[in-house]
Amino acid sequence: MAELTEVITRDGSFSLKSAFYKENFHSMQGALTETKVKFINPSDLERFKNKSLNVLDICFGIGYNSALLFNTLISQNSSVNWYALEIDKKPLEYTLTNEYFKELWDPKILEIYNSLYRDNMFEDQFFKCNILWGDAREEFFNIPASLEFDLIYLDGFSPQKCPQVWTNEFLSKVSQKLKNFGYLITYSSSAAVRKTLKNLGLEIFSIKPNLISQKSWSQGTVAIAGFDKKKYQGNLYFETLSKREEEHLFTKASIPYRDPDLNFKAEDIIKERLKEQSISNLVSAKEWRERWE
Ligand SMILES: C[S@@+](CC[C@H](N)C(=O)[O-])C[C@H]1O[C@@H](n2cnc3c(N)ncnc32)[C@H](O)[C@@H]1O
Repeated sequence: MAELTEVITRDGSFSLKSAFYKENFHSMQGALTETKVKFINPSDLERFKNKSLNVLDICFGIGYNSALLFNTLISQNSSVNWYALEIDKKPLEYTLTNEYFKELWDPKILEIYNSLYRDNMFEDQFFKCNILWGDAREEFFNIPASLEFDLIYLDGFSPQKCPQVWTNEFLSKVSQKLKNFGYLITYSSSAAVRKTLKNLGLEIFSIKPNLISQKSWSQGTVAIAGFDKKKYQGNLYFETLSKREEEHLFTKASIPYRDPDLNFKAEDIIKERLKEQSISNLVSAKEWRERWE
């Protein structure tokens, strides 16, 4: 699995490149910037000031998303019950030895990450943290059944490279763990992922591009469970899907990734989806792209 090399992204923050997945852990625009724009800003963490929340971080990796989350929670006196799923311990080894990374955060975060590496858990008055090492599709079932989450971060490699964590079946299990008005947040704007989440009954929003990424049409997706329009106060960082994004959900690109018993290999998930796309009557994503670009 491992075969990782360090890369420095454009905002100066370090990240990793995986030879196995042939993909970087973060966009070259900036690992730290990406965490902020795609995960932390849309999380609306102010809601939890002086309160407690439950968070699930799927594909923990180097741990940027949770480090910035924890940093923010410390500054606003929140407490957290946190779970993470990750198949490979190696990225956390890089985190714990990278001087740049260490200097970014409150020392408490390194204390937590060292404990996660050593003991798979950390606990004090404000933080109750557990990391489950292994395939997220299996380890997911070791999360206490009664626990529901306010926030779920989904940060796997892209659906084409790592479809296992983007399938209809996996997302169905994951979305059942959201509290009412809980947010599932991902950097992915894939039509297949969005359509799947929509079909599972979640309300879908698009993360707005920031100043640096103005050319891209979306920075990801926020899917809200048990959405009630009357109680919704709006969010600065995400918005309802544009016409262009809605139309994307009616193309062949919206055909879901499937993994009926949550144990298919990546290549089989991709192969089955290609078969389904080849017999579908939906318009091609190419036609959609030509209309909008
Ligand atoms: C894009 S990186 C995550 C970046 C991360 N959130 C961060 O802040 O550094 C994807 C991560 O997914 C992990 N991964 C890949 N397949 C997985 C699986 N089936 N279950 C759990 N983790 C998986 C990889 O080991 C890698 O660390």
